[in-house]
Parts: sequence; structure tokens; C-alpha cells
Amino acid sequence: MPDADGIKEAKMFHCDIPQETRGFFLKGANALDWGMKNRLARIFNPQTGKTVMLAIDHGYFQGPTTGLERVDINILPLVPYADTLMLTRGILRAVIPPSTSQAIVLRVSGGASILKELSNEDIAVDIEESIRLNVCAMAVQVFIGGEFEKQSIINMTKMVDIGNRYGIPTLAVTAVGKDMARDAKYFRLACRICAELGAHYIKTYYVEKDFETVTSSCPVPIVIAGGKKIPELDALTMAYNAIKEGAAGVDMGRNIFQSDAPIAMIQAVRAVVHDHETPKKAFELYKSLKKSMKCK
Ligand code: 5RP
Repeated sequence: MPDADGIKEAKMFHCDIPQETRGFFLKGANALDWGMKNRLARIFNPQTGKTVMLAIDHGYFQGPTTGLERVDINILPLVPYADTLMLTRGILRAVIPPSTSQAIVLRVSGGASILKELSNEDIAVDIEESIRLNVCAMAVQVFIGGEFEKQSIINMTKMVDIGNRYGIPTLAVTAVGKDMARDAKYFRLACRICAELGAHYIKTYYVEKDFETVTSSCPVPIVIAGGKKIPELDALTMAYNAIKEGAAGVDMGRNIFQSDAPIAMIQAVRAVVHDHETPKKAFELYKSLKKSMKCK
């Protein structure tokens, strides 16, 4: 019990200073509740408004792909440089130390493999798991134009509904099937459908032509996937252009963990995303970090 005697008289009312009502820094997120915003502010750096998500969830449908054979050896050293880890609950529990402070985005859709139709996914993780694992967002694959388009959209809307109940944002991951066009028209359609149906942010692919129409017509933040491995300078240029054209960050996997020097590459990506470094300068940083690591 606090001592009732001798209480200091309260006088710091600052009656002349109106309480400030601040807007939230993320596009489309102002009407969300506190917990939802707090989680988003752990994914996106409030100082820069951007995020470097390290995507390592590929194993959920393609097994131990190149660079992810040993997450404990190849990926753990990258974790300190990521703002966010995107992964499955299996890898999270088995390999990632619970002392990790990076925001966790949990892959919650699944049920298909590279041996069958990829769009035939369901929700594969109960909401209780996301709460138990203290995740900052739940990722659901959405296959616009895919064979199981409707099923994948409903997977996403179900997670939006449940996530809204508990204050956990949903990341819609726009998937590109073999037969789907990878152009701005397609991504405008896919991203807008996901946003209209409640996704709190969206992962899509960068396209060189008209990408700014994808970001401007999407009312919530967009992050770009890296896609298949390309030369480091090209990947940095892609990230730079995406940010310049309205993306709020990257959710990059292969172009980091399949790089010749993944620790150098993730730092170069950070420089582009958070510090507006040019691709050329970021590539110089990559090369010098790679060299200094070899010397050790
Ligand atoms: C797998 C994913 C990946 O997380 C996504 O494709 C990002 O990884 P990459 O940069 O390697 O494309 O969603 O379904």
C-alpha cells in the first residue's frame, strides 16, 4: 500500500499545453487499435517507416532449399541485421533463440508442396499459436488468378478477422503462379484485392514498369519479395527502385541467403532501405564488408 501521508501535491498539469494527438506513421494504419499498431511498429522502423524482413519460410512448400539447409548455421548470423524474420513455427521453435528481439512474422498458410498444385493451401496454424509465439504478424499466401483463388482469399480474410480480434496484423503474400503475368496490371489487381479485404500490409514483387501505380493504388504498405537470386548489384538496384517508387521495405530471402556473402548483403540492403543509399554505394559497402569478412 502506498503511504497516504506526506503525498507530494500534484501540480504538473501543464494546463497551457494541449495533449498532442499524433497520427500513426504507417500508410492506412491510423484507424487500427493500439496492439495492432504496436506490432506494426516493431516490423516497420518508426524512424524510417521501412522494414528489412528476412524471408526464410521457403521450406514450408519446397523443403531445404539452397541456403536454408541449415538455418542454425546459415541464417542465425544474419538475424541481428534484420528488422523482422518471416518464417514457420517449426523453424522458430526449433532453431531461433527466444531471446531474439526481432519482430516475428509467422507463415500461417500451408498444405501444398512443390509436387502438387501450390494454390491448394489452407490455414495451417491456429491463432493460439500466433499469440503463444508472440508474433507481430501472420502471413497468408493469396493466389489471385490461381486454381484455388477463392480458397486462398478466404484463408486470408479468416486470418484478418481472427487477427483483428487479437490485435495481430495479417500480411497478404501475393503469389505468382507459372501462368500468371508478372506485370503492374496484375499486381495492382492482386494487391488491391488483398487490401480491400482487410490485409494490413502486402508482399508483392517489383516490376520495372509502372510499379508506382501498384504502390499508389494500394491503401496499405507494400513490401517487395526478392524473387530468384540475381547479381547483388541488381538486387540492390531493385530494392532501391522499389523504395523510391513507394514500397515500405523488402521481404527478401534468396537474394540475401544465397548471396556469396549473406552478412554483407543484408547490411547493404539495410543501407538502401533505411539510409536511402544508392545501389552503387550499397554495392561498394557489400564488397568491402565481404572483403573484411574474408580477412578474418
Ligand atoms: C515463399 C515466400 C518467400 O518468403 C518470398 O518469396 C520471399 O523470398 P524471396 O526473396 O526468396 O522471393 O513467400 O512463399
